[in-house]
Amino acid sequence: MASKSGSLYVSGNPGTGKTASIMNVLETYIPKLENSGHDTIHVFLNCTTLTDAKQIYTKLLEEMEFTADELEDMRETENEKPEDTFIRLVTGQIEQEQDTAFLVILDEIDNLVSRNQEILYRLFGMADGGRTDSRLALVGIANALDLTDRILPRLQVRGCEPELLNFRPYKVPDIVAIIKDRLAGVKVETNSQGDGGQSANVVVQTGNDVIQSTAIEMCARKVAAASGDLRQALDVCLQALEVVCNTAKKSKSSSSSSSKDALPKVTVMHIVKVLAQVNGSTTDQKLKALNFQQKLVLTCFVIAEKEQQFQKITTNGVVKKSLTTNQLYQQYIELSSDASLPAISRSEFTDLLGVLEVNGILALEKQKSLLSRRSKTGANGGGGSGGQPVTLSVQLGEIHKAVDENPILKSLIDY
Ligand SMILES: Nc1ncnc2c1ncn2[C@@H]1O[C@H](COP(=O)(O)OP(=O)(O)OP(=O)(O)O)[C@@H](O)[C@H]1O
Ligand SMILES: [Mg+2]
Repeated sequence: MASKSGSLYVSGNPGTGKTASIMNVLETYIPKLENSGHDTIHVFLNCTTLTDAKQIYTKLLEEMEFTADELEDMRETENEKPEDTFIRLVTGQIEQEQDTAFLVILDEIDNLVSRNQEILYRLFGMADGGRTDSRLALVGIANALDLTDRILPRLQVRGCEPELLNFRPYKVPDIVAIIKDRLAGVKVETNSQGDGGQSANVVVQTGNDVIQSTAIEMCARKVAAASGDLRQALDVCLQALEVVCNTAKKSKSSSSSSSKDALPKVTVMHIVKVLAQVNGSTTDQKLKALNFQQKLVLTCFVIAEKEQQFQKITTNGVVKKSLTTNQLYQQYIELSSDASLPAISRSEFTDLLGVLEVNGILALEKQKSLLSRRSKTGANGGGGSGGQPVTLSVQLGEIHKAVDENPILKSLIDY
């Protein structure tokens, strides 16, 4: 075991069970390892908890729960960088941990994207299965399917790219089964007041008793069609349950008559209402949650509309407005300069587009058959039309609204 190293990259859309499944494997695997007599140290770290990707090594050493004295003993020199201590640790150069194997799971690993991708390169490089000195098994989890292709082509060259595991969105029967399983563990208590409120009968039911099967199926079908995001399916059912509980509470407190009825059931109508609310607000919330750089990229679309720079492409028989990645980057650079802001590099920009795509805000289109050329040539200073077409997955009006809420971005549009 001590000589085992290697890496795995787990990808998949939000809510496809990546974190839950890997945690589950970890929970069953770790006790077995511990009983096998091998020394192992495992860390599960969600990289969104880091404010700076560079903190990763300090954080990993912290999570390994070494005491300050142990850490001091491990350092070769007083000022050794955490990265160097970590490398020596996982390559058997620290005597007291020579026989230890390390399992590091980095969830939301796309947060470690950095200049030249040095951090990701080094981490995956350290877990190279071909290295005889490495004792590090690394699992990276993120949404994008091609993060390692896009960010780490050098790993392929070195022949130490991670194995890939893609999680597909859940299908209707999976979603139904998981929701039912979860609801079986939800306890719903209702107080049905006895005469004059003197005695109270507590009715305890499981979540499944208070939700119609057809309602669960409807929820599963709608969510599977939209995203396959199990988190959303569970949320919708719980919200519908809450609505029914609250309505029941209100009607009990306003009615003087005694009632020993259990809770009324969640019906298809409740689910439809909650879904309408959820879908009504998601785009707005998604856009609000974006950071400044991401909003700046979207501002390029608003400007493209104003300056008539859109091209038209057809995808699946639907005509859509598009800009190319080159046009977008060029426009982005211009806007950054107008706003006197430092611009991110082209590769960081590509990653940023990837994040916006994963969030369902835009789509990087594979197809290149253009219906018409740019309607206004030369508007972008020329030379900017190469690259992959990018289309919006949300209404331009919604983007305009979100961008307008930021005074700096608004001034760039009005400029
Ligand atoms: N097979 C499963 N059985 C039971 N619950 C599950 C299963 N898969 C996912 N879930 C639940 O669905 C929710 C979303 O799953 P999870 O957090 O694993 O998604 P994810 O793929 O990691 O999403 P993200 O990319 O947003 O991090 C969680 O509440 C999780 O417990
Ligand atoms: Mg996750």
